[in-house]
Amino acid sequence: MKVAPVPHRVWDVLQLPPQPAGPAVLVVLAGLPGTGKSHLAAAVAAQRAVVIIRTDTVRKALAPQPTYSPVESGRVYRTCHAVLRILLTKGYPTLFDATNLTAPGRRTLRCIARATGVPYFLVWVEAAPALVRERLLRRGRGMSAYDSDADWSVYRAMQATVERPQRTDLVVASTPGTLGEAVATIMGFLDGGRAENRGKRVALLNSPQQVA
Ligand SMILES: Nc1ncnc2c1ncn2[C@@H]1O[C@H](COP(=O)(O)OP(=O)(O)O)[C@@H](O)[C@H]1O
Ligand SMILES: [Mg+2]
Repeated sequence: MKVAPVPHRVWDVLQLPPQPAGPAVLVVLAGLPGTGKSHLAAAVAAQRAVVIIRTDTVRKALAPQPTYSPVESGRVYRTCHAVLRILLTKGYPTLFDATNLTAPGRRTLRCIARATGVPYFLVWVEAAPALVRERLLRRGRGMSAYDSDADWSVYRAMQATVERPQRTDLVVASTPGTLGEAVATIMGFLDGGRAENRGKRVALLNSPQQVA
């Protein structure tokens, strides 16, 4: 597989700790914009030394005025994959915070975990569309966006492109009420990430409409 070069300015924005907290684990967050992936990642990082790689942050380092074209997005994902490969090889426990909506993209991530010999966990994050709409409106008015520019129209456009994973290690229906349990489960992945956790499915769905 061809590995993309990682420019210095990308390493600069990542602000990695000099030493990995180990053991290396790859936890992949996936889901539509506004479902709460970055909020969840930040809540995990508040409790655990974990490196977060966000496509939104890497995109802004690569393209200060992003166009969100397919070519640009391809470059952003390839750069993130190259970063992940290096970090996992060095022993960093890592969260990959991106929409990760396509099956081929997630297959690449599984291959990176396998090639670097680290456990892989896939966390699917979802939220009721009405809640997402409200969040994205608030985010547009200055709430923490974690470098994302996605608004409701982006959410609607991306809805059509979702390839929902068949196998997930955790499904999070994102509400303030489920955050603590989701964080605790991901910390379990980071802790052992061992065989007993692999393939575990923890559904945190509060009500059927949140699956919609
Ligand atoms: N569990 C939650 N409780 C409260 N607010 C949340 C929660 N999840 C997300 N938010 C808020 O909703 C907005 C969108 O969440 P974000 O994590 O940025 O979504 P994503 O990264 O999936 O695009 C953010 O402003 C965030 O602070
Ligand atoms: Mg985000």
